[in-house]
Amino acid sequence: MSRFVPHPDRRPAVVTGASSGIGRATALALAAAGHPVVLGARRGARLEEAVDEIRARGGEAHAAPLDLADSGSVAAFVKAAGEAVGEIDVVVSAAGRNQPDAAEEPDPDDFAATVAVNLLGVQRLVASVLPDMVRRAHGDVVIVTSEVVRLPRVRTVGYTASKWGLHGYARTLQMELEGTGVRTSIVQPGQTLSEMGSDWDPGVTTELLEQWVRWGVARHDHFLQPEAVAAAVVSAVQAPPGTQLSLVEVEPQAPLTALPLPDTPPEAGDGDGARGEPAGGQGGRS
Ligand SMILES: NC(=O)c1ccc[n+]([C@@H]2O[C@H](COP(=O)([O-])OP(=O)(O)OC[C@H]3O[C@@H](n4cnc5c(N)ncnc54)[C@H](OP(=O)(O)O)[C@@H]3O)[C@@H](O)[C@H]2O)c1
Repeated sequence: MSRFVPHPDRRPAVVTGASSGIGRATALALAAAGHPVVLGARRGARLEEAVDEIRARGGEAHAAPLDLADSGSVAAFVKAAGEAVGEIDVVVSAAGRNQPDAAEEPDPDDFAATVAVNLLGVQRLVASVLPDMVRRAHGDVVIVTSEVVRLPRVRTVGYTASKWGLHGYARTLQMELEGTGVRTSIVQPGQTLSEMGSDWDPGVTTELLEQWVRWGVARHDHFLQPEAVAAAVVSAVQAPPGTQLSLVEVEPQAPLTALPLPDTPPEAGDGDGARGEPAGGQGGRS
């Protein structure tokens, strides 16, 4: 007899933060891979749009309202998800709150609001579905953290603190769930082109970017697409039994900083200036 439980044919998934960015892309990717998905977030109309898109492509999807800062909402979401798709086999925690803040000008309420979504809400959600997964000896918990766990960013105090807490929570889960058949994967993205930061004051954004460059954490200007992070989540969920993707760092590849050597030798007098020139048009928020 195998020492690992095979993946069931039907593996219902819940995805938080599914109204935009990484969560939305993950819901679409999981549905394309055959998972029934329940999409959770606060903006219901956005969820319905994504559900329509999944169904139009032949997938199974349902929307359920979710505010991770509200314990009653988390409980209602888990109940609605179970009623819609049956026993949950995959939980993807992709929702996140990130508002610029500063250590020297702390706003305790804002700090608490960020921790409520990024840490407390995740724990509450996972705790609600975990006992059934352990009973069935099968399931995947995928927690989207952030590269700030490795490289803290100034002026994101609540965000960085909450993601460090989330990383610690996920690492502990991995240890405690060892041997239960339930896997925990941490997906740790770098800068990603999503709606995160789109509501920030442009002046504050400029100031933060300058600071991040000064601290050496914004090494180039290329951003990941949400689909790239979604692909990492799907890889973790679809890894064969006996394998666990414990920590997946997904980073944007740096654009070319030098033109490739020409195939043909340079004409006499061209010198050797081809390398080292900036690669025009390669950067930007693509
Ligand atoms: N973008 C980046 O550069 C980057 C880098 C590293 C890690 N990440 C992480 O990736 C994850 C996804 O972020 P994103 O980049 O895709 O940003 P995004 O487009 O802003 O998406 C954030 C999602 O979180 C949801 N959300 C926020 N507050 C919520 C709450 N109280 N309850 C339930 N859902 C809530 C939002 O939905 P509603 O507003 O509809 O509720 C939205 O769907 C986050 O955990 C973020 O920390 C992002």
